[in-house]
Amino acid sequence: MGDIDSAFVQSPDHRPQAPKVDADAVAGEIPVIDLSVGDIGELASQVGSACKAWGFFQIINYGMPVELHKKIDVVTRKFFKQSMEEKIKVKRDEENPLGYHDGEHTKNVRDWKETYGYLLKETVEFPVSPDPEDQELKAITNRWPQYPPEFREVLEEYGREVEKVSYKLMELIALSLGLPAERFHGYFEEKQLSILRLNYYPPCPFPHLALGVGRHKDSGALTLLAQDDEVAGLEVKRKSDGEWIPVKPVPRAIVVNVGDIIQVWSNDKYESVEHRAVVNSEKERVSIPFFFFPARTVMVNPLEELVNKENPARYTEYNWGKFYAHRIYGEFKKREVENLQI
Ligand code: SIN
Ligand code: FE2
Repeated sequence: MGDIDSAFVQSPDHRPQAPKVDADAVAGEIPVIDLSVGDIGELASQVGSACKAWGFFQIINYGMPVELHKKIDVVTRKFFKQSMEEKIKVKRDEENPLGYHDGEHTKNVRDWKETYGYLLKETVEFPVSPDPEDQELKAITNRWPQYPPEFREVLEEYGREVEKVSYKLMELIALSLGLPAERFHGYFEEKQLSILRLNYYPPCPFPHLALGVGRHKDSGALTLLAQDDEVAGLEVKRKSDGEWIPVKPVPRAIVVNVGDIIQVWSNDKYESVEHRAVVNSEKERVSIPFFFFPARTVMVNPLEELVNKENPARYTEYNWGKFYAHRIYGEFKKREVENLQI
């Protein structure tokens, strides 16, 4: 066993410690919501309580074809098992953030993982630089690997299905906030900047020093993560005491979490919660997050229906497209950006 590259070493405060909580005892704490049971009002209330208490929950029976979870897991493993020479044929670069990447950093520390990013709506215009004055836009294209041959078809099918589930969840969130079910739909639709990402965490000889993904909050609206059915890794910071709580894999479940945009829209009623992924020395792990991102032009601010004299707006408005461009292009240009993880 050689030495670890210092780029991966977390500062002592943030290294994964032996859990202070009994993983089995807390496993049931993060709610698992069965979307096939109960009426829409009951489901909205379960989703609302989970968003408030944890910012995280898992869903089962969410209406996707059952074999799709397995299919995307299989193509993900096949893709990452190829030689580096093959993978870098679809490598991301400064011009186009889609494709293969093995140099992700979160809060300036390198993550122990490889990723592949797929833009759901390829027709959207993407900002070309983080400069707010630079209004130039371009269409960017996905980079499809040749192997495995079914890769594109499976990602596109999964993308269509996970988008449907995302709308369903936004409806439940809207209802839980006392808003019309379709209140959020217009922010997404054909111009959404949503990304599906495949994460591959190789076994790590230094799981006490490195993290698969360092602590961060998600900056989008909602994240829907298909976790490895067998190998755990995701940990969520419990709001009540700041302890890191492992999210126990539930076969074929999707882990859902609220991102910064919902925190702003809801004016802090639902907070975006810190999380991270730990690695282990024996087993590889796969996770597949879908980042449900609004359209580039959306101005994000607390919803006027939720703001009043007693509960004034806690955020000033910002433009999602500019914010996001800064995040992705900033990664190549300077590492000082506080949180590089999308
Ligand atoms: C992430 O939050 O970016 C990934 C978490 C995971 O792999 O479980
Ligand atoms: Fe995340």
